[in-house]
Amino acid sequence: ARHLLGIDHLKPAEIVTLLDLAEEYVALNRRTVKHSDVLAGLTQINMFFENSTRTQSSFELAGKRLGADVMNMSMQTSSVKKGETLIDTALTLNAMQPDLLVVRHPNSGAVNLLAEKVNCAVINAGDGRHEHPTQALLDALTIRRAKGRLQRLTIAICGDIAHSRVARSNLILLGKMENRIRLIGPSTLMPAGVKDMGVELYEDMREGLTGADVVMMLRLQRERMDGGFIPSEREYFHRWGLDAEKLALAAPDAIVMHPGPMNRGVEIDGTIADDINRSVIQDQVEMGVAVRMAALDLLARNLRAERGAKASGVM
Ligand code: CP
Repeated sequence: ARHLLGIDHLKPAEIVTLLDLAEEYVALNRRTVKHSDVLAGLTQINMFFENSTRTQSSFELAGKRLGADVMNMSMQTSSVKKGETLIDTALTLNAMQPDLLVVRHPNSGAVNLLAEKVNCAVINAGDGRHEHPTQALLDALTIRRAKGRLQRLTIAICGDIAHSRVARSNLILLGKMENRIRLIGPSTLMPAGVKDMGVELYEDMREGLTGADVVMMLRLQRERMDGGFIPSEREYFHRWGLDAEKLALAAPDAIVMHPGPMNRGVEIDGTIADDINRSVIQDQVEMGVAVRMAALDLLARNLRAERGAKASGVM
């Protein structure tokens, strides 16, 4: 495929190929000299219309470590502030002949729309509450490394599922890999139609965590909430926050994950987040760079093959 817009269109074998390549980049990133030239000569533009710490910095590092010319568009100082539309902004950048466009946008579907208008490869770095495919892939790599497999695991995804693109992409990926998925949280923060997705639903955190191999915590995404009942932070932590007492119900070797940014004392106790025997949160960040390198590498290969075929008149 030309683009990476979501997990939905990926086959399990393609996911495994990407994770295997990411493993090679984990090894490269642990070396003193972290450089490859697989993207040499290619231009990568990162367009983040929404705030980011992890995704933007890891895409920048990933592109630079692979030898691409990387440009970060500062959307705060761009002409978007003067009323330019997403599509006009994208067409303007497209005319500068980039090869890879990494896009985050607050509206679900915006990145798919943009991908139709440009002739380079597009990676969705998170669109509204729709998808965040590289997050699910880095989570998958983290789980595979910690548990030794990515199948037949009981995975509890806890908190604000309704507004979470991370939960959505993870549900699709982990479901494709034949895991048992439990969604835990207030009924008001469960998305409509989730019952038909082959998952188990729990409102009681203790019940849902019992025996889980993987505990994935999510932040309350207030920026995407439009009214509806939300408990106070204090009540939320009491009922759905991960603390030592609730975690004790999971499998003895259960790992704790969080995509970040974290709100300590709201969805997770800070002591658990920092417990290196249980928490793999910093591993997730490390895997993020490697997974994004693998995604950029594979899309660049496809792009070169497509352009080569066009040049030789095959297409
Ligand atoms: N997990 C994640 O997408 O984090 P950022 O919003 O900091 O990129």
